[in-house]
Amino acid sequence: LLMNIAIASDHGGFELKEELRAFLKDTDISCTDLGVANGESVDYPDFGMALAVRVSDGEFERGILICGTGIGMSIVANKFPKVRAALVWDTFTARMAREHNDANVLVIGGRTTEKDLAKEMVKVWLEARFEGGRHQLRLDKIREIEKRWGMG
Ligand code: RB5
Repeated sequence: LLMNIAIASDHGGFELKEELRAFLKDTDISCTDLGVANGESVDYPDFGMALAVRVSDGEFERGILICGTGIGMSIVANKFPKVRAALVWDTFTARMAREHNDANVLVIGGRTTEKDLAKEMVKVWLEARFEGGRHQLRLDKIREIEKRWGMG
């Protein structure tokens, strides 16, 4: 399970980002921190874009984004072609995000999710497998939408 992932947050997700970074250090996953570097107020589109563009380009296999609710980061990340960002709130949605949606960006609300639950959700999402089949057909349709509307 060797994987190259990135993590980023705004100030609303800073504390949880630091927790998750420490948690991932104990695994064989390489996790690049794209900021923010402290808890001072910043704009989530800047950090969401920094991560999503690099997942979109294939530089990182996957990413984790955190803001206060996870909503702003989800909106930003899903603007990028080939990014499928999923805002999850429990281990079931974390597992489904992978099994059905093949989400390559996991989004968590730093102000809505307890640390331990967040770690569990990350673990479940990293370990689950995309089921393919009928779910792949649906992802193909999403890809068609991206192409049709000029998103690469
Ligand atoms: C920042 O206060 C907050 O708006 C942001 O972290 C996020 O929740 C936006 O969706």
